[in-house]
Amino acid sequence: MKPFYITTAIDYANGSPHLGHAYEKVLTDVIARFRRQLGDTVHFLTGTDEHGQKVQASARARGIAPQAFVDAVSQEFRDLLPRLDVRPDDFIRTTEPRHQRVVRDLLQRLYDQGEIYRAEYRGFYSTRQEQFLQEKDRNPDGTWPELFGEVTEITEANYFFRLRKHQDWLVAFLQSHEGYVFPAFRQSQVLEFLKEPLNDLCISRPRERLEWGIPLPFDDQYVTYVWFDALVNYYSAVVDRPGVWPADYHVIGKDILVPPHAVYWLIMLHAAGIELPKGIIAHGWWLQRGAKMSKSTGNALNPLDLVDQFGSDAFRYFLMREMNVGQDSDFTPEQFLVRYNSELANNLGNLVNRTLNMTTRFAGGAVPAAESAEEPETALRELWAQTGPDVVALGERFQFHTALERTMAFVTATNAYVERRAPWKLGKSADPADQARLRTSLATMAEALRLAVAAMQHVIPGTTAKVNAVLGHRPGAVWKDELVWGGRLAGNPVAPALVLFPRPEKPAAA
Ligand code: ME8
Ligand code: MG
Repeated sequence: MKPFYITTAIDYANGSPHLGHAYEKVLTDVIARFRRQLGDTVHFLTGTDEHGQKVQASARARGIAPQAFVDAVSQEFRDLLPRLDVRPDDFIRTTEPRHQRVVRDLLQRLYDQGEIYRAEYRGFYSTRQEQFLQEKDRNPDGTWPELFGEVTEITEANYFFRLRKHQDWLVAFLQSHEGYVFPAFRQSQVLEFLKEPLNDLCISRPRERLEWGIPLPFDDQYVTYVWFDALVNYYSAVVDRPGVWPADYHVIGKDILVPPHAVYWLIMLHAAGIELPKGIIAHGWWLQRGAKMSKSTGNALNPLDLVDQFGSDAFRYFLMREMNVGQDSDFTPEQFLVRYNSELANNLGNLVNRTLNMTTRFAGGAVPAAESAEEPETALRELWAQTGPDVVALGERFQFHTALERTMAFVTATNAYVERRAPWKLGKSADPADQARLRTSLATMAEALRLAVAAMQHVIPGTTAKVNAVLGHRPGAVWKDELVWGGRLAGNPVAPALVLFPRPEKPAAA
């Protein structure tokens, strides 16, 4: 069976990781775990994008060699993963020989096929910013803004990739592959973009301007444009693993869909005769007071602050619960705390406490068997009969936020069930019917708790494992079977207590 192959964008190694990077890794990890739970073999790739002008400039500004600079930054991105409980199968760096070799082979192949040509380009160039300028960069009075310094008109020879030639093919491809880009409205945006004629893509930078890149195999006076290099990572990482390519999904942010992924990458593969990825997931942005979080705007919140204080599960839960994949979300520490307290600590944490505590007090620490299903039990089971399958169906459409909402609604209903049954009152009754109800209520709450954490396993894997352990439950191999209501816990010894989501000692740093 072909592995389910999923990738993240590879992060620019020119600054530290921020919440946007953390989110994308967690989302991809949640999808990867979800597919594994459904029985797929999964290959999950992430990595760092390490060439280009910005990296060269950052290294120079620090007075160190680019390689030393990217080694340190790449390590920061790599270190983030275990703290988020994100478990990729491979981590690729674009400075690795295994990647550079494939980029050069691909360039040579496209060059030999006539897909890449050399041409002269005349334009206004800012030496200070090391970039070509466009008419729209001018001041209204026709002068160049101060930040560009001296601007001169120069002629430069470069290599160009024939995008234009494949435009009609790309339009036809997207039109015949509905749902190729998730969410669907993004696919419409790609097609909208393709209504204008494409310019061929300049894929080279002269060495006198940029040293830090992969030399072109057919002209060593040039290095490869960073996007042409970076996109190839998805393919270079698996060329030595037969049967993994094509990717099932590239998970990326909305800012790098058009043109890099939906235009350059698809045309690069098509022109080279390589199979296309099966789909692209374009997520939205995390915003802070309406502005995108990034290194450059300086409002980036270090995600590790919250992870360290509240744990990776609470952090993953928040990201998945808060954001509808594809839309933007505002991040505030206040909203994080609201969800942490009300959903994780008070709702789920409370059910865990009650289940363990009451099983210990009223049943000698072992889960009883359910005996008499009356209306309260039947109603709760019916709610689960809808929730369980919906969690699977929603996950298949990346609607994790709704799946979590539904699962938490089931936890709320279970807590309400406990209030209604009031085992602490049943425990005082000598009536054998009440004693049977007591045993049934304890069995019901334990089973409901088991089901709820099974349904959230891909999002909060550590919590699911801990709850299973205190319930004396060893999950079977088939995850979907774990979502079926049964009397699986009967007779299991339970632990007397488990602290899952402790109250924060002091408010989260704003
Ligand atoms: O674009 N919210 O790298 P990058 C959500 N190296 N996602 C965000 C975000 C935010 N505020 N800010 C960034 C690059 N991202 C290239 C990718 S792929 C062959 C090369 C996402 O470090 C962004 O959309 O700027 C992208 O998917 C990823 O983080 C890396 O961004
Ligand atoms: Mg970016």
